[in-house]
Amino acid sequence: MSEINTVVPKALLVYCRPGFEPDCAEEIADNASCDGSFERGDGWIVFTPSEKDPRALNSLVNKQLMFPRQVLLVHDRITLGGKDRLTPIVNSLKQIDSAFSDIWLEYPDTNDGKSLSSFCRKFGDYVAKAAAENNWLQPQRVRNRLHLFFPQQNEVFIASRPAKDTDWINGIPRLRMPVDAPSRSTLKLLEGILVLVDKPESKFREGMSAVDLGAAPGGWTYQLVSRGLKVFAVDNGPMKGSMDGHHQVKHIRDDGFKFKPKNPVEWLVCDMVEQPIRVAELMAKWFAAGNARRAIFNLKLPMKKRYLEVCKCFALIEAKLEKAGMSCKITAKHLYHDREEITVYLTVVKD
Ligand SMILES: C[S@@+](CC[C@H](N)C(=O)[O-])C[C@H]1O[C@@H](n2cnc3c(N)ncnc32)[C@H](O)[C@@H]1O
Repeated sequence: MSEINTVVPKALLVYCRPGFEPDCAEEIADNASCDGSFERGDGWIVFTPSEKDPRALNSLVNKQLMFPRQVLLVHDRITLGGKDRLTPIVNSLKQIDSAFSDIWLEYPDTNDGKSLSSFCRKFGDYVAKAAAENNWLQPQRVRNRLHLFFPQQNEVFIASRPAKDTDWINGIPRLRMPVDAPSRSTLKLLEGILVLVDKPESKFREGMSAVDLGAAPGGWTYQLVSRGLKVFAVDNGPMKGSMDGHHQVKHIRDDGFKFKPKNPVEWLVCDMVEQPIRVAELMAKWFAAGNARRAIFNLKLPMKKRYLEVCKCFALIEAKLEKAGMSCKITAKHLYHDREEITVYLTVVKD
């Protein structure tokens, strides 16, 4: 792919959970303004559009896509044959002749990829030295981050993107497990809030009410409680640890598909393991009845045609809410803490 060696990016590099490369490709193809070809790696794909229009790539980089963990503009791809890995990278960057806010060295989220972590750490020192010598780092002036992605030790993609606060190295968030949370799935809702909700501190405020469907043992409830919300935790199973008997939590042993709140709530969250279309219908029902204004929920993914299934669920929600005279905004992400599911944020849009 040596023709990529130019200032104008000609391809897109996308990181994802290994095994979800076809879903990423389907979503990119569906959102791209032109056709193109895909190369599939393990935990990454490259999209090369057939038209030489950088706007096609720039618009994809700035889009909120579900399956990609990270989307980058590719400037070059180099095979690093000899012992000196730095010089070819320096030479390539001199041709790009650009300044960056930061430089990240990255690798795929696979066992082979993880074996490159110490190499990237050590090699990063040499890259930092070269960056200082060439004045590549100008964080006060630019927001563009340089990503050096090593699919293997002797190959590197030279790529960049406009830096975002919610970017993480390798596309993987490092979130600390709260010691008093009753389950690790608390990290899933935490990541969902950080990634999907704009200015979360204004959307989760003390005294607001929430319903958590499929709440036990209480990891999601914990996130809501720690933001000051009062939670109706609906599950036939027991709440555990700090969420068992907490003064902000009312545990209701009921079927999440039958439970109706006495009063509307600000937040609805749902982590029930169910058919995605049933969950989508349930969310639409709550919103159409005016029983919730915001929701975060999981859609379990089928083994095949996952992108299509998610699109069907979104279409159902939009149609039901349109029928109820409402418009809504749906954003979704295949989070690092998601496996065979996707996390969705649904809000009512005021006209
Ligand atoms: C993945 S766990 C939820 C974990 C929880 N979000 C947490 O962070 O601790 C799924 C939960 O959904 C509950 N569940 C499944 N179907 C349900 C239903 N129809 N009504 C209520 N709860 C249900 C299960 O009992 C189980 O506790």
